Amino acid sequence: MSDKSFTLKDNGSGEEADLASYKGTLGPEVVDVRSLYGQQGIFTFDPGFASTASCESTITFIDGEEGILLYRGYPVEQLAQKSSFIEVCYLLLYGELPTQDELGKFENNIRRHTMINETMLRLFNGFHHDAHPMAMVSGVVGSMSAFYHETMDIQSARRREIFSHRIIAKLPTIAAAAYKHTLGQSFMYPRNDLDFASNLLHMFFAVPAEYYEIDPVAAEAIDLLLILHADHEQNCSTSTVRLAGSSGANPYSAIAAGIAALWGPAHGGANEAVLTMLKEIGSAKNIPEYVARAKDKDDSFRLMGFGHRVYKNFDPRAKIIRDMCHKVLAKLGDDNDPLFELALELEQVALQDDYFVEKQLYPNVDFYSGIIYRALGFRPSMFTVMFAIARSVGWVSHWQEMITDPAYRIARPRQLYVGPETRDYVDVTNR
Ligand code: CMC
Repeated sequence: MSDKSFTLKDNGSGEEADLASYKGTLGPEVVDVRSLYGQQGIFTFDPGFASTASCESTITFIDGEEGILLYRGYPVEQLAQKSSFIEVCYLLLYGELPTQDELGKFENNIRRHTMINETMLRLFNGFHHDAHPMAMVSGVVGSMSAFYHETMDIQSARRREIFSHRIIAKLPTIAAAAYKHTLGQSFMYPRNDLDFASNLLHMFFAVPAEYYEIDPVAAEAIDLLLILHADHEQNCSTSTVRLAGSSGANPYSAIAAGIAALWGPAHGGANEAVLTMLKEIGSAKNIPEYVARAKDKDDSFRLMGFGHRVYKNFDPRAKIIRDMCHKVLAKLGDDNDPLFELALELEQVALQDDYFVEKQLYPNVDFYSGIIYRALGFRPSMFTVMFAIARSVGWVSHWQEMITDPAYRIARPRQLYVGPETRDYVDVTNR
């Protein structure tokens, strides 16, 4: 599979290292540096891994310049328009779109795993009422390794499959339990007669005392958001799952690590941060002040929901979400929602600003998703949890791919050491 090779020359000694290169199906070719240390005794240096392909993958492809996102080769726009989250889960996990029969069986499997062990439910009592739901969800998902220790048998294809189904099916239940705990309301058991998105709405918003009618536009919006967030190749949380899982750790713990990584405001936490930022800006007249702050190197403020490590043109997901925003607000919220108006205004100002244009900073997936979640009735602290529910399928697909990859090894990066050179210990009395 090596198409051509690259020669790396040490300009001092004149020594050369020959490095193979590989071309994938799509995207830039990669140089294989694995033999570099053996040949020349040097490492590559790439903090943030912006230029490093950490693995081979067949799951998701992104072209950041062209704004392309493909799941197993299918454009996300087509999936958003024609597919469902549960079908996308099948596609990501198994690599192909399911037949009608396969889809039915898969959907049934997921529905049969939605309940959680009652003792797991009791874990929530240990959390303070104002605990952030992401903290509760990562904690409780981590605890699944205590419930399903047999999953440590990661060489068993069947155990891996059951693990994947459990994560996809139970994460909404765990998330809803966290939500109900925050509100002090009764936990609502899952309803297996409902589709994935409708069941999620039921568990979050129904109460035992009243009949809860599921709004089809709300279910459609949830399903769309789940599809758009389902996977995004080697992003921070997915790489975390791969890294934690590479030691052979219980995969539930690896998913919990991924949830923790997702929570950061530079990653999935951005959707909550966008809403906080819009509220802080408050009115269109204050936009110039905040845009100026975002550009000021001495100010740590950034425009949340703007910029992306890979997308340097536009985030295809943001465009689809913006359209859904209009639809949801027209049906369920205020079509003239001041925060949505403010977001549209801020987008326009930033898109015309030289700083944002030069640095290729465009609205990303998180810029509008929070506005939809808010219109649907979710508290801002739940926005990133919703992201986690969607990304769970990406995490398990990548974990599965890693475990079955013949080239899989424990992830163990090296470093450029810049600390003190070797020195002798000095007794405390002589310091
Ligand atoms: N506002 C103002 N300046 C920005 C922003 C922003 N949102 N994003 C990047 N920049 C500037 C940054 O200061 C840097 O400037 P300079 O070259 O002068 O030092 C330049 O643009 C490149 O930024 P970077 O931080 O080196 O880029 P990165 O690839 O390491 O970070 C990012 C990407 C998404 C973390 C970053 O753009 C950011 O912090 N955005 C806001 C948070 C956000 O919306 N995150 C959600 C990402 S999409 C969903 C997800 O991944 O979960």
